[in-house]
Amino acid sequence: MAAPVLRLGLIGHGTVGQSFAHHLADATIRIERRTGVRVQLSRIAVRRPDRVRLVHPRVRVCDDPLDLALDPALDLVVEASGAREASDWLLAALNRGATIVTANKQAVANSYALLQALADRHPGCLAEGAVAAAIPIVRTLRDSLQGEDIRAIRGILNGTSTFVLSAVERGASWDTAVADAVAAGLAEPNSTADFDGSDAAAKLAILATIAWRTPIHRDRVRVRGLDARAETTAQSAFASGRRLRVVADAWTHGGGHLLVEPRVLEADDPLLHVSGATNAIELDAALAGQLRWFGPGAGGAHTASALLADVAHAAAERSRRARTQVAA
Ligand SMILES: NC(=O)c1ccc[n+]([C@@H]2O[C@H](COP(=O)([O-])OP(=O)(O)OC[C@H]3O[C@@H](n4cnc5c(N)ncnc54)[C@H](OP(=O)(O)O)[C@@H]3O)[C@@H](O)[C@H]2O)c1
Repeated sequence: MAAPVLRLGLIGHGTVGQSFAHHLADATIRIERRTGVRVQLSRIAVRRPDRVRLVHPRVRVCDDPLDLALDPALDLVVEASGAREASDWLLAALNRGATIVTANKQAVANSYALLQALADRHPGCLAEGAVAAAIPIVRTLRDSLQGEDIRAIRGILNGTSTFVLSAVERGASWDTAVADAVAAGLAEPNSTADFDGSDAAAKLAILATIAWRTPIHRDRVRVRGLDARAETTAQSAFASGRRLRVVADAWTHGGGHLLVEPRVLEADDPLLHVSGATNAIELDAALAGQLRWFGPGAGGAHTASALLADVAHAAAERSRRARTQVAA
């Protein structure tokens, strides 16, 4: 019998989308071997469809993401565009019954409906790539820690600002460090979001939403970004064995609090050694105690890893449903 097919549409074919499409070819073989479901990339939406792109001749390239989201032939919509309108496309796909997978933290953290879907553990709303790229924190919070009382979340969630601060504390100029981050494909499509704290704030809102099972909009996060003093503060902190980092913090006691701000970490802080594009997340759970994750928090391949994890999850779900139908 032919393997069931999961037809996939991809919105965005830039740093993340291209890497995802490239690695999907290999992952498809692994996923089919493990789940019996064949994932097939059928359609891509971008801003400039006429640009030369390395895609399989079978894949249709268009410039209409909403049309792709509404395409009844697609079971799965993967979104890696960073576009403002992306939450509308994602909701359109989710509401017609497709599974959505997104790397776009702003689209999620600025939409009550998508946050509600994450808070409710909607099986068709997957967003591993939206927070801390390769660190599997979204599913860990959603599933592995679902019996826990999460009391606090602390993290270094923006790889670009850490990359720049790490270079600057060692003597690089701010402008050179930013140019290097952009050249490495680490910066956001709009890199101001990396430095004004809004990228980290969106990720914190998503983590808090999943941890506390209630939609927490990005606007509820108090934010202070890096300013003109950051370069000298980073250098003087480093000279005294400490480090300036943009820290995201959320906790429940005292009525709750969500905050992103530059902070000098002391020499004994467990997050002190986070540098380059590494992200770090620390949870305080009532029973498990302090848990920490460190890993690549930006970059095409690292984010593609998270998107592929969600696609593999969707394939496993499809396989489970197919087996249940046969059994019934
Ligand atoms: N870069 C990272 O390290 C990273 C890490 C984690 C998460 N993310 C998230 O992943 C998403 C994509 O980031 P990226 O770095 O890959 O961005 P990017 O390199 O700028 O690529 C954006 C892609 O989306 C397409 N696009 C943008 N606006 C569109 C619109 N209105 N309609 C149709 N297509 C549109 C672009 O089309 P064209 O090719 O025609 O320009 C391009 O293919 C963002 O949400 C970002 O926050 C990025």
